[in-house]
Amino acid sequence: MEAYLYEWLGLIVRWLHVIFGIAWIGASFYFVWLDNNLQQPPDWKKQQGIKGDLWAIHGGGIYEVAKYQLAPPQMPPHLHWFKWEAYSTWLSGMALMFVVYYLGSPGYLIDPAKADISATTGVLIGLGTVGGVLALYEAMIRSPLADNGKVFGLLLFAILLLVDWALFQVFSGRGAYIHVGAVIGTIMVANVFLGIVPSQRALVSALEAGREPDERVARLAALAKLRSTHNNYLTLPVLFIMISNHYPLLYGHPHGWAILAAIGFITAFARHYFNLRHRNINRPSILAVAGVMTALLVWVIAPSTGNSNARPDAVVDDATVSGIVATHCLACHASAPSHPAFQAAPAGIRLDELSLLKSHGDKVVQTAVLSRYMPLGNTTGMTDQERQQLGQWLEHNRAKP
Ligand code: HEC
Repeated sequence: MEAYLYEWLGLIVRWLHVIFGIAWIGASFYFVWLDNNLQQPPDWKKQQGIKGDLWAIHGGGIYEVAKYQLAPPQMPPHLHWFKWEAYSTWLSGMALMFVVYYLGSPGYLIDPAKADISATTGVLIGLGTVGGVLALYEAMIRSPLADNGKVFGLLLFAILLLVDWALFQVFSGRGAYIHVGAVIGTIMVANVFLGIVPSQRALVSALEAGREPDERVARLAALAKLRSTHNNYLTLPVLFIMISNHYPLLYGHPHGWAILAAIGFITAFARHYFNLRHRNINRPSILAVAGVMTALLVWVIAPSTGNSNARPDAVVDDATVSGIVATHCLACHASAPSHPAFQAAPAGIRLDELSLLKSHGDKVVQTAVLSRYMPLGNTTGMTDQERQQLGQWLEHNRAKP
């Protein structure tokens, strides 16, 4: 019963996290779009301090949007601050991390073959990394480094690369990926909380007091701009990490950290194309290069087909394979799992019949033969020889398409 309710908790928190995330990223995409589509307003609007004009139709109504150079002559009574979208995404994301990785199934986080650490140590390393990198980022952006956007960007990428690599050495691939995501997401939310919102607040209070925004306000605004540029480039990589837990093909790969770095780089680079285009610079070569890099990545990490070491006559019999699956998989992948953490077969994958094993053949090869993602955390101690036997049996018996 407890495990059953725990599943529901996970479902609800995950659902909320996705909803909040959509609200945040959606608003942020919308404002980027808005800024890039503002038209020159007519003179009578310009005289009121309006610098951009936009008309749109949505949901059965026509909207008139006006962006002021600075602010309207009188502050409106209700000014909406877009900040809770970001905060609630972070709060629900951290809650989800606890539910799934810290309190739920430590097998998602800990891979004894890499580092045989306790769940508590895992949590401390995870949270310590998130907090540590945030502190470093905040120190950097408050230093003279912030005056050189390019160097800052490169350094940030190098730091994230190091974090990615280091986490991959201690955590399971999946655990490492999600923690890189948590580090990036935390930086993004801190950018809102510690930089962008305070800068807006300083601007609003200067205007309310009837003061021209002074140098301090201008400095805060410049830093806020840098922070939102970082958020802009980090958006696509962090969204990728959010869905990456469906792809053991990537995080289960022996060089999973490098794959994550490559995808992060490619997506941020592709984002650059759209950012330039918004400034009326059209450089399709960027998209072409990103496409070529993606194709190269797909090619480089492709599993070698045809096990060249296997003797063609090395036929593994059904009984051996049934035994391997029973020992290493069925505690979880059965219609009524005996493993206390699972109410139903995880990922909907049941392996309690050889026909099912065949039909899931490709995924089984991916997770248990080519990578060591399964059995989760290898708590049953599956050997390389057993993996090879499983692979050979599937090679011979795979349901032909
Ligand atoms: C301790 C429980 C446990 C054991 C033992 C286990 N699995 Fe899994 N398996 C899971 C969980 C949990 C998931 C879902 C993981 C995810 O969503 O990333 C999963 C997912 C899978 C998937 C689907 C991956 C995907 O991309 O959707 C396959 C295939 C799989 N397991 C095969 C196996 C095989 C083969 C074995 C035995 C060699 C095995 N598992 C042993 C818990 C287990």
